[in-house]
Amino acid sequence: MKKQKPWSGRFSEDTDTLAEEMNASISFDKRLFRHDIRGSIAHAGVIARAGIITVSECKKIINGLRAVEKEISGGRFRFSPDLEDIHMAIEQRLTSLIGPLGGKLHTGRSRNDQVALDMRLYLKDEIYEIISLIHAFKLCLVEVAERNIGCVMPGYTHLQRAQPVLLSHHLLAYYEMLRRDSGRLFDCLDRADSMPLGAGALAGSPYDLDRRYCAKLLGFSSVTENSLDSVSDRDFVIEFLSASALIMMHLSRLSEEIILWSSQEFGFIELSDAFTTGSSVMPQKKNPDIAELGRGKTGRVYGNLIALLTLMKGLPLAYNKDMQEDKEPLFDTIDTLKQVLRVYPPMIKTMRVNKEAMMNAARKGFLNATDAADYLVKKGMPFREAHGVSGAIVAYCIKKGVTLEEMEMDEWLRFSKLFKNDIKEAVNIMNSLNARKIHGGTSLASVKKRLNTVKAELRQGI
Ligand code: ARG
Repeated sequence: MKKQKPWSGRFSEDTDTLAEEMNASISFDKRLFRHDIRGSIAHAGVIARAGIITVSECKKIINGLRAVEKEISGGRFRFSPDLEDIHMAIEQRLTSLIGPLGGKLHTGRSRNDQVALDMRLYLKDEIYEIISLIHAFKLCLVEVAERNIGCVMPGYTHLQRAQPVLLSHHLLAYYEMLRRDSGRLFDCLDRADSMPLGAGALAGSPYDLDRRYCAKLLGFSSVTENSLDSVSDRDFVIEFLSASALIMMHLSRLSEEIILWSSQEFGFIELSDAFTTGSSVMPQKKNPDIAELGRGKTGRVYGNLIALLTLMKGLPLAYNKDMQEDKEPLFDTIDTLKQVLRVYPPMIKTMRVNKEAMMNAARKGFLNATDAADYLVKKGMPFREAHGVSGAIVAYCIKKGVTLEEMEMDEWLRFSKLFKNDIKEAVNIMNSLNARKIHGGTSLASVKKRLNTVKAELRQGI
């Protein structure tokens, strides 16, 4: 006996077992069950409104769908691969529960617009959750920045000590990145927020379905404008994957710094035992595995973006089965992102900051050489010339084994007669730092001002 499938009317042979296995998406798209059922409940309402089913039939269908949802969430549902995907699995179970009436639910709909709807509903929910995780991350950065407000560290370019900065300023740099990241997610939401049902298989449903009513039931702010585009478009997924790749890129840079800073060479921070691991061979080891994994997982998130861009690039309109391959990269990205976003804030909150090590590093390496040059500029020397003088002083200090702060007045005067006693203050690390009181600079005043603004922003939920 040939197996019954919802589409098997014109078929006389069974699907090959290997082909069936390859065709099935149920093992991963079962994750969409809640959204699929939510969409089906709305569709039942829409076809009732169009007079395709009666109000009492609509109620029976909705009750049936709710029962299926309970079975799945209670772990009592058997997902078999011959049911192909979550849409058919739910429809078949509905029919077995409420009888042939279940077969009326798919009127005016296709799995093509159904899956487009599910993906949008699912992604919208996940984006909200990710935005709230980023919000918590931003709160954590602000908390750690406030707690360490006076802590001075070397700022780097080319990983060479460059100029002194506040640790809080450094942390707030990541705040700004995350702030743009959530802005990008809000943009994604905007475009995911369009309701595709009614597109049917590709050409539009022949039934008079009230698409706006459906959008309202499902909380969408608009309906899609072209049926072919509605079932073909996955750019809302790609846009999300691209925003996710940027988030991971930012977190990977942070991870790299956490790893460097907790090395003995830097010794700027010590991660809590709770977020590190030991070595099975070397008893002394305390490894920053979590930060390393965050850095490493960036690769798979980039890969998922490239996978989807490549998947879509050659597809003719409208739906093609290739598009079933959109799910695993999306799900994997969401899982990875949520995992990293959840574990990083407690890891950062519990790290021990070694203020002395940071300050000592900021004192060595002539981070105030620019300030010596700027001093001469204030006395009227062109910056290029002042840069040369300060460079020569640095060379002299390196030879003599002293810092700029340790230079005697007669030594300063050997390099330029413009130097007066107040050069000592100009090259003081704290003065160097606080001279950068420009908007966006690292002075204590500028950083405190930014902290106050972002705290107000966070209170408003931005
Ligand atoms: N499982 C399919 C997917 O995720 C659903 C749509 C199938 N449509 C079809 N005409 N075979 O893409």
